[in-house]
Amino acid sequence: MRKKLLLGNWKMNKTPAEAKAFALSASEMVEYAVAHNIDVGVAPTFVCLQTVKENINPKCIVSAQNCNEHDHGAYTGEVSIPMLKAVGIDWVILGHSERREYNGETSKACNAKIKALLANEMTPVYCCGESLETFEAGKTKEFVEEQIKTGLADLTKEDAEKVVIAYEPIWAIGTGKSASKEIAEDTIAFIRGVLREMFGEVAEKIRILYGGSVKPVNVAEYMSAPDIDGALVGGASLEPDSFKALIEGIANSK
Ligand code: PGA
Repeated sequence: MRKKLLLGNWKMNKTPAEAKAFALSASEMVEYAVAHNIDVGVAPTFVCLQTVKENINPKCIVSAQNCNEHDHGAYTGEVSIPMLKAVGIDWVILGHSERREYNGETSKACNAKIKALLANEMTPVYCCGESLETFEAGKTKEFVEEQIKTGLADLTKEDAEKVVIAYEPIWAIGTGKSASKEIAEDTIAFIRGVLREMFGEVAEKIRILYGGSVKPVNVAEYMSAPDIDGALVGGASLEPDSFKALIEGIANSK
């Protein structure tokens, strides 16, 4: 049985003071999540990682939103894995559609980062998902299959087991237009099939999250789908009350 995971993607929101205030207010909700066998985490911006890590309940995962695959060097504006480790970070989101769109992040580049993270015993959260155009053309599956096959190319079964996947249809991100539970489950079950083809039975252990306008009102419905193992949440993860309501929604979905 795969353990449910709720990950809040804060994107480019919160100053260090705001991030610290969230961290300090989160202790009880993190305990509640743990008590209900739910993994919970937040992904602040680079400048807030250290303050969140230092002030949040240590049972809460703290994830970066990107990293560079090189340890150090002439890569202006980048942050390396050893730097993240030095402030206690061991999870990183990769390949988010916003980074693919605005920063030219490719599945191939994600593959290099995923390998570097795994070599450092860190957990990559690899995002995939199609545009509205691709969805309407009925090409979601072939598009997502390519992202998964390229992003996870050449991983061993042992490493593949440590990766978390997030399926986020771009047309559902921040739009309030969430994919129906049926669409999300259909694509996520398909992704599990691709993982099975690549890594055999290890695919049953890999967690696949849904993301895209997940809110306290709809989170339980997604969690009741057999292949959906959690949620990657943007907007609704920013305020403590809403984040708490998401945790409660997952707890009550069982
Ligand atoms: P959203 O964002 O919940 O605001 O739609 C999800 C994401 O982009 O991770």
